[in-house]
Amino acid sequence: MNKTVSALSLFAILLFAAGCSKHDPVIRIGVSAPFTGDQASVGLTILRGTQLAVDQANAQGDVLPGYKIELVQIDDSHSPTQAVAAAKKFVSDPEVIGVVGHLNSSCTKPAAQIYHNARVAQITPASTNPEISKQGFDTFFRVCATDDLQGPKAAQFAFNELGARKVFIIDDKTTYGKGLSDEFAKAFIAQGGQVLGHQGITQGDKDFTPLLTKIRPMSPDLIFFGGLYPECSLIIKQARDLNIKAPVMGGDGIYDVTLIRLATPSASEGTYATMIGADVKALPQAQEFVKAYETKFGDVGSYSAYSYDAANILIQAIKLAGAPDREKVIQILKDGRTFPGILGQTEFDDRGDTKNKIVSVFRVRNGQWEHVRTV
Ligand code: ALA
Repeated sequence: MNKTVSALSLFAILLFAAGCSKHDPVIRIGVSAPFTGDQASVGLTILRGTQLAVDQANAQGDVLPGYKIELVQIDDSHSPTQAVAAAKKFVSDPEVIGVVGHLNSSCTKPAAQIYHNARVAQITPASTNPEISKQGFDTFFRVCATDDLQGPKAAQFAFNELGARKVFIIDDKTTYGKGLSDEFAKAFIAQGGQVLGHQGITQGDKDFTPLLTKIRPMSPDLIFFGGLYPECSLIIKQARDLNIKAPVMGGDGIYDVTLIRLATPSASEGTYATMIGADVKALPQAQEFVKAYETKFGDVGSYSAYSYDAANILIQAIKLAGAPDREKVIQILKDGRTFPGILGQTEFDDRGDTKNKIVSVFRVRNGQWEHVRTV
């Protein structure tokens, strides 16, 4: 009897141990952007858009027979070093099949090398620097327009629609900020406009009064800023405090509600931003997404739709691959097919850039970002 009991207990222990050593099969998708710190407001739109796509895919059933998707998030704090560390962490987990990320071009660019070395597909929903896709990594994909389109479109709008002839340019010296400003300057000069000066600042700077005091006597028609909203909001506020009336314009990096809150609604009134796609909330095919996102997280933010599409494209590729196989997923993303999404039809070119490149202009009106038009 005792022998039978101990044999049974041993059997139970072995069964339990076997159960513990295995977990249900999962497919992991990584997501990385700044989820804390001064850029968290936009970084979280990337996390939430990706989360919604994953939750919906799991709710519809198994993505592959027996497999659910698990989201793995790593905060890169908009630091290139931390983005590379995040990429290394993702690729070291064999269950991570693809990654949505990062936000900043300065992070996406070096991280792309890591994903490429490990043969892991990366889709950025937000990094717009055109040089990233020229690195020759066939693991890199992007669902938004790039700055060699965004910069010139902003310059045309400034020259033709705002009537700006003299502009002062400030950028944050990052891959994105400097790249976008240079593209803007080139196109603005080509139109016949004059660049009064071009000055770099550093992310995290708080006092722009000395620079703005230098700019004031030049009486620019417009101040163009290449960078993100934390610095831009301070520039706007401090410019108004110095009684500089010129409007401020920037790219997708300033298109966030937090800019209005930080700069104050009155100081930010009349600020312009280009955005790297259509006016998502107005797209007929986006209505269900908007409703689902608002129910779960609140207002749709800058990159919510871009990361939702990026994650859904990865999920579609995994389904088509028929197995959680990194290389097969890359080959499916590369093979020229069209992925329907809320941004429209995404088809990647030879460099992994979307062929669906749209730039829109928004402006702050009555304390809110308002769509002006697609340019
Ligand atoms: N579009 C911005 C960048 O590329 C966020 O860094």
